[in-house]
Amino acid sequence: MSVAVVLVAAGSGERLGHGVPKALVDLGGRTILDRAITAFLGQSAVTELVVVAPPAAADSIASTLRSGCPLPAVVVPGGLTRSDSVRRGLAALSDAVEFVLIHDAARPLVPASVVAEVIATLRSGSDAVIPVLPVVDTVKRVAGQQVTETVDRTELRRVQTPQGFRVDVLRAAYAAAPELVATDDAGVAEAHGVQVCTVAGDEAAFKITTAYDLRLAELLVSAG
Ligand code: CTP
Ligand code: MG
Repeated sequence: MSVAVVLVAAGSGERLGHGVPKALVDLGGRTILDRAITAFLGQSAVTELVVVAPPAAADSIASTLRSGCPLPAVVVPGGLTRSDSVRRGLAALSDAVEFVLIHDAARPLVPASVVAEVIATLRSGSDAVIPVLPVVDTVKRVAGQQVTETVDRTELRRVQTPQGFRVDVLRAAYAAAPELVATDDAGVAEAHGVQVCTVAGDEAAFKITTAYDLRLAELLVSAG
């Protein structure tokens, strides 16, 4: 089994507001990107890494990886949207690879157990696998300020990464929708008729979006 990891790290981090790309922001002495890479290093099935980087930082990230990454790694510049960045990452995979995990670098604390479960589910024959968590708050539909409906949340899930796919399946899904801007890769696969299955996510795989999230991540890192 050969699994590639595409780390999408090219976003600008507007909502975090640090004035540098989010992947390069410090989290307890290491960058968010560095910690996200580490989350995949213990998996024996993972054979290569593609980092989709902020274009201005691609060269420096590549030289850092050359000196310290134990996996074959390439760095490609990202696009204007996450979907464009994923397309660029998929284009950089080696021909031999069978499966790909697409992961947000902004989720640096994803536990190894979640990564392992996604890989195991691909190994057992699934074309597409996503980690999910239940929705714990009551969910309502509103129009303006007015509540129009209380939504039944029992079938709703919050979706995380890494999302795992057979490479040929995800490539075909993206090729069929060259203009589609999706917030996740499973959405592109679903639009192409691919069956997507779920595994249990983990709260630790939360996405660092705001200053509050970064503070939470700092506390978790310092607590060991
Ligand atoms: N991403 C990317 N290329 C883009 C936009 C996003 O590779 N053009 C990546 C981000 O680096 C991040 C992941 O997609 O790891 C999820 O995106 P998000 O959390 O929205 O990060 P940013 O786009 O950087 O943040 P913001 O939307 O606040 O600017
Ligand atoms: Mg964004």
